[in-house]
Amino acid sequence: MFKALKHTPRLESWPCPHFPECGGCAMQDIAYSDQLAAKQAALLEIWGEALPAALRDDYTIVAAPDPFGYRLRMDYVCSDDRFGLRVRKRFYAIVDLGECHLIPPSLFTIIRAVYTAARECGLPDYNVYHNTGFLRYLVVRRNVRDEWLLSFVTSEQTHAEQMDRAAQAALDAGATSVWWLLNPRHADLSFGEPVRHWGAEFLPQYVLDRTLLMGPNTFFQNNVGGFEQILRYITPFVAGAERMIDLYAGVGTIGIALADHVGKVFAAELSDESVALAQRNIHLNGLEGRVEVVQADVAEVLRDPRISQRTAGDVLVVDPPRAGLGPDVCAQLSEHGPQRIVYVSCNAITQAMDYEILRQNYDLVATQGFDLFPQTYHCEQVAVLERRA
Ligand SMILES: C[S@@+](CC[C@H](N)C(=O)[O-])C[C@H]1O[C@@H](n2cnc3c(N)ncnc32)[C@H](O)[C@@H]1O
Repeated sequence: MFKALKHTPRLESWPCPHFPECGGCAMQDIAYSDQLAAKQAALLEIWGEALPAALRDDYTIVAAPDPFGYRLRMDYVCSDDRFGLRVRKRFYAIVDLGECHLIPPSLFTIIRAVYTAARECGLPDYNVYHNTGFLRYLVVRRNVRDEWLLSFVTSEQTHAEQMDRAAQAALDAGATSVWWLLNPRHADLSFGEPVRHWGAEFLPQYVLDRTLLMGPNTFFQNNVGGFEQILRYITPFVAGAERMIDLYAGVGTIGIALADHVGKVFAAELSDESVALAQRNIHLNGLEGRVEVVQADVAEVLRDPRISQRTAGDVLVVDPPRAGLGPDVCAQLSEHGPQRIVYVSCNAITQAMDYEILRQNYDLVATQGFDLFPQTYHCEQVAVLERRA
């Protein structure tokens, strides 16, 4: 809970009957303008004195294009005849959702019907407490044209004939692509080893004027409208660079979206599946020779002389997971990093911790918040750092 929300007036009604029991949304009883004000206060507190006074005075968070129905991926748990999300702060209790407003409610109704059809085909549910059963998650990913990919995450590679019928039910309901993913471990992951797919192999996503393929396991930004606002914000900070280095590149989204503004792009990403799709995305957008992607750990790539030898024409963009860059990567960047770093973060706490190391050699020259996750406590934050002479 944000401190700033303590005295904020509560709304008397909200769209979803499952609020506040469902853990998917934390703030449906707070007006969206108050949510933004609370996030802004929390971000200013996290950054504290590290934020120069001029930036503090002008600091804002850009509102999301849509406060509801914005998510492009939802991971619905299937447990003990219940289909939905976890009860707030209770891992083993699942709210059996009749509706959900984080994706368009009409799509939720379709996905819920596919779950019912899958059970009627004879697929047993999982039990998240006992770790028994078969069908663990239905994960839906959609694009901005409301086409969707559905993954069935199961604990075993059995029930092939029933899976085939359930996948057919999803295709009949309008799915573009259906995947069977296997997660036999107790670890509660909604990702898995691909077993097979039906329909199209990948789902196209549309970002600015680019088309990018998403897979069932690969990372993709969850709010494309909001992420386009970030891309527009960072464009002037990378424009004209001889080389943009795009670290934590996923399927190549940032490098490919901004390639026309720079000489060339060098991207690095750890996940094999994402790198394979990034390569296809480079080809799909006719960017061979202008965008290069390698499969590598960022900590290793930064030791590569092609990257560690600082050149005046480089701009670095980093977009790490919630854990941030960490001390090793920050120490390397502080030592060898280029003139400018654009740091896109989904966790302002780790970003501010990283800046404590980077500030030995960098100044924070611009920053902006972007609310990509309305109704939740999460927020995206961009920081632009310039190396001191
Ligand atoms: C927040 S996502 C950003 C992806 C991408 N920039 C985008 O806009 O879609 C973080 C990405 O970092 C990758 N990653 C995590 N740890 C990494 C590491 N040590 N080295 C390289 N990539 C890593 C993840 O696989 C994931 O694709």
